[in-house]
Amino acid sequence: MISTYSLRLPKVVFGGENPTEQLSNALRAEGVTKAVVFTDPSLRQLGIVDPTLSAISAAGASVEIVDDIPAEPSYTQVQSVVDKVKGMGADVIVAVGGGSVMDSAKLASVAATDAYTVHDLLSNPGQATKRLKCVAVPTTAGTGAEATPNAIVAVPEDEVKIGIVNDAMIPDYVVLDVRTVKNLPRKIAAATGIDAMCHGIECFTSTKANPFSDTFALEAFDLIVNNIERACDDADALDAKRAMQVAAFYAGIAITASGTTAVHALSYPLGGKYHVPHGVSNAILLSPVMHFNEPAIRERLALAYDRAIAGEAVTVGEKSAALIELMDSIVEHLDIPKSLAELGVTDVPIDWLAEAGLKQQRLLVNNMREVTLEDAKAIYEQII
Ligand SMILES: NC(=O)c1ccc[n+]([C@@H]2O[C@H](COP(=O)([O-])OP(=O)(O)OC[C@H]3O[C@@H](n4cnc5c(N)ncnc54)[C@H](O)[C@@H]3O)[C@@H](O)[C@H]2O)c1
Ligand SMILES: [Zn+2]
Repeated sequence: MISTYSLRLPKVVFGGENPTEQLSNALRAEGVTKAVVFTDPSLRQLGIVDPTLSAISAAGASVEIVDDIPAEPSYTQVQSVVDKVKGMGADVIVAVGGGSVMDSAKLASVAATDAYTVHDLLSNPGQATKRLKCVAVPTTAGTGAEATPNAIVAVPEDEVKIGIVNDAMIPDYVVLDVRTVKNLPRKIAAATGIDAMCHGIECFTSTKANPFSDTFALEAFDLIVNNIERACDDADALDAKRAMQVAAFYAGIAITASGTTAVHALSYPLGGKYHVPHGVSNAILLSPVMHFNEPAIRERLALAYDRAIAGEAVTVGEKSAALIELMDSIVEHLDIPKSLAELGVTDVPIDWLAEAGLKQQRLLVNNMREVTLEDAKAIYEQII
């Protein structure tokens, strides 16, 4: 627990029924004349972008679409979309997509300038200044990128992923419209939902946990463990899908107010080197890291147990063990691979991974138990 903390949030969040339509009024009030919509080709083809396009038109603004944003983009790929935005004369960027699209849009909202590049922000994120307003319409539930000041990019030459963090990248408006996640394929819903579950439990057990972050982290975690399986398994479970969407957003607020820990830190090299999807690499690492951390976070795991499960466990130790077991069983139920071998990754260079993982000190300083090089190796050994 830290004693100094703050809560930073998007300006307005639209939820409930027809939230996309509410966006029109906001855009009109902002005097928006031209919007650039960031998305990807499959989302566009699925028609998921259409309500947002209608909302922009209804606000009387013109629209240009950039739909060639790849999943988990590198900083050079983001730079090439940023370059497209320069000179378009847009006054707002609207991201309709998962974390990859939202992070690209957030970077474009600060980097659509000749003053610095996305590469410059890797080493000096402090110089980022908001140039264009940013609207986030998440279509996964999810990264919580709609709430955070973070944008994650791959750095292929170093085979890692790096988080660029600056409050200027917190989106101005967020639209939580259940229609965007209604038909999320099970595999994507599972991996992105586990990512959000990790955000919740990591932020709640972080050295930076505080009353503000706890409120959002615990509510997110409770909603997720009680809805994720139904949201993934039952196509008609709109209530569970809506709960996941709200929970992912709350977990994003928790990240902003606190911070993720060793699951995310050790996950980045797997994304950078093997392009394992972010939610999958977190899911694989969750159990070994939770078992490693358990002696240092037992009381907090027991509190999360009381909130989310309220089962028959009595002692703090029983509760924390039951909570880790529950998270394991959810990952298992959702058919997410449990090892790199299951993903076809063999001959894993444990030493390289451990060294790369330890470089993620931005997150490792949040871990309640110190992770040494030997600890990181032992954790990676468990997932090969
Ligand atoms: N900024 C942050 O705070 C933050 C937090 C966590 C992760 N991330 C980053 O976000 C990225 C991952 O984002 P993600 O997990 O949301 O996945 P994603 O954005 O990479 O999307 C994964 C796939 O899902 C598809 N998809 C998305 N929504 C869909 C829908 N409704 N229906 C059908 N298909 C859909 C996309 O087309 C894509 O192929 C990573 O780069 C990760 O590092 C950022
Ligand atoms: Zn994450």
